[in-house]
Amino acid sequence: MAGFAAGAAGLGIGSILGSPAEAHAETLTVTDFVYTCPLCGQKTADYDVLVKHFKEGHPEAAVPECATLTINGVEVKVQVEPHWTLRETLLKAVGLTGNAKEMCDRGACGSCTVLIDGVPALSCTTLAVECQGHQIETSEGIAADEKWRPLVDAYAKHDAAQCGYCTPGQFTVAKYIIGKYGEPTEEQIRAELSGNICRCGTYSRHVQAIQEAAIAIKGGN
Ligand code: FES
Ligand code: FES
Repeated sequence: MAGFAAGAAGLGIGSILGSPAEAHAETLTVTDFVYTCPLCGQKTADYDVLVKHFKEGHPEAAVPECATLTINGVEVKVQVEPHWTLRETLLKAVGLTGNAKEMCDRGACGSCTVLIDGVPALSCTTLAVECQGHQIETSEGIAADEKWRPLVDAYAKHDAAQCGYCTPGQFTVAKYIIGKYGEPTEEQIRAELSGNICRCGTYSRHVQAIQEAAIAIKGGN
């Protein structure tokens, strides 16, 4: 059950509920990015240094690929393998643990759902290199945005997470639902969240939390 514990601690509602400032600090610290030579293990915080290292130390080898991604409004250059999914990249290269923790990893559960250009997308079935030039939004970015604080608060109030595994994906889709419908009906919420599986059975709580947050975000209550 090590994976279970790590996943629950990795985001769950606990991390979602960090203050916006804490959440932001936790999400993207560009200066922490480290590029690693896969041949000798040398690390550097500067991609240009890695390129120079290859030219001098491994002139026969191809320089590792980098992708430029815009994540939660921050542009980052990350070292990726061409076959890495966005989920893997968020976890391994960026250090975001919310939508990126390993669940089914085959497009079946919805826990890895992020927003790409504002639309829900499964990060476990999307290649990172395909995401260049697009806006990627994760649960950490939403939680760090003061405008969406009522959604965090509503998730806490209605106890919409148990183990927390599915929560980042549900939470991310919740933002999409409110943006799409304004004040969504229960039917609309259940239809939009139908691809997000919760083994703890928190479905009705998501409806309550989203409907309450929708009213608050529009200025009611
Ligand atoms: S981890 Fe992506 S759908 Fe389950
Ligand atoms: S809260 Fe446990 S899977 Fe949804």
